[in-house]
Amino acid sequence: MRLLVTGGRTGYLGGHVVRTALTAGHEAVGVSTVDADLRDRVAVDSLLELHRPDAVVHTAYVQSDWDATAAGAAHVALAAARSGARLVLVSSDVVFSGSAHSYDETARPDPITPYGAAKAAAETVALTACEDVVVARTSLILGDGHSPHERFVHDLAGGASGALFHDELRCAVHVEDLAAALVELALSDFRGVLHVGGADPLSRLELGRLVAARDGLDPTVLRGSSRAALGVPGPRELRLDSHLAAEVLTTRLRGAREFLAPGPCSSSATGRLPARAAWFTSPEPKAIQTAQLLTDADVGVLPDLREHERSGEWVEDLPGAVRRLAMPDLITVGTWAGISAAGRAQRRSPSPSA
Ligand SMILES: NC(=O)c1ccc[n+]([C@@H]2O[C@H](COP(=O)([O-])OP(=O)(O)OC[C@H]3O[C@@H](n4cnc5c(N)ncnc54)[C@H](OP(=O)(O)O)[C@@H]3O)[C@@H](O)[C@H]2O)c1
Repeated sequence: MRLLVTGGRTGYLGGHVVRTALTAGHEAVGVSTVDADLRDRVAVDSLLELHRPDAVVHTAYVQSDWDATAAGAAHVALAAARSGARLVLVSSDVVFSGSAHSYDETARPDPITPYGAAKAAAETVALTACEDVVVARTSLILGDGHSPHERFVHDLAGGASGALFHDELRCAVHVEDLAAALVELALSDFRGVLHVGGADPLSRLELGRLVAARDGLDPTVLRGSSRAALGVPGPRELRLDSHLAAEVLTTRLRGAREFLAPGPCSSSATGRLPARAAWFTSPEPKAIQTAQLLTDADVGVLPDLREHERSGEWVEDLPGAVRRLAMPDLITVGTWAGISAAGRAQRRSPSPSA
């Protein structure tokens, strides 16, 4: 199977879709604006002629740009139909107003924001122009520690100003579950609309607190605010019913309570929260902080890791190393990637001796 993934070169979800497809042994090409501006119909036609994909997974969009979101999707749908490629169009729960208690695939879009209207327009063109098409509606995408949502929580937990709505409910989905579902849909013969959200409707504040707890940050410092009281336009309660996806997909879409639960390597009980919170927010180079964190908190506890540190040989696979050292409470999932990246950066420029 040869996949073309719009938004796959630079986008958050698109990048995951490309990696998931490649890992599963498919050909996958990720493209973004540098390859073709999807607002340009001729450029989109040329893109599909160049790559001749069996399926297109369309993730590209700009929330505030009708042309990128609606017209771009229309160009992709028309080009896919012309070239005979299957289309998996990623859409959003914001095509709904939130006035109903929950939404399954039979519900009609009734958007109340320009973004929701652009996604509804994109869906309509895709379903009209293409025979071999799936419209996959999803909700907040996060879970690997690097989503904009999680980074915002890290900033707030580190003292940045801001708050999270306690009266906006969404069915957040793990980015890896969603990427796997989209690749599975690209390969399947399912046609039509499918809801691919997570199982748990949670407020942004509840989600933020789960993220903070998972990442060893203090959830209680996160402040709530009311979307209704502030008069911020947009849907407030979007419960996406994804029961059909559970029937047609082998990929399981976990709920946020499950995928954000503190895992075996979570460390909220270790008493080292301030050090970790500082790690996220301090302007010091991460390599220096990491060395400091390990030195201060774990002297005598991590002799092997300190040996790596002394020798300048940083541990590439820190999660694996921590497990091997039977130190499951040391580093939270959310810090692993950053620490590994810090280690790599330090190897490139051998500095600090913290
Ligand atoms: N993130 C969420 O929580 C969420 C929730 C519900 C639904 N969704 C849907 O999920 C999809 C992916 O979201 P995401 O958060 O992964 O998006 P993202 O990280 O912001 O990525 C957007 C991608 O679209 C590309 N793009 C934008 N304008 C383009 C244009 N004119 N021509 C070509 N490429 C263009 C960008 O490329 P450049 O870098 O080159 O600009 C980028 O790769 C979207 O369809 C969105 O509606 C997202």
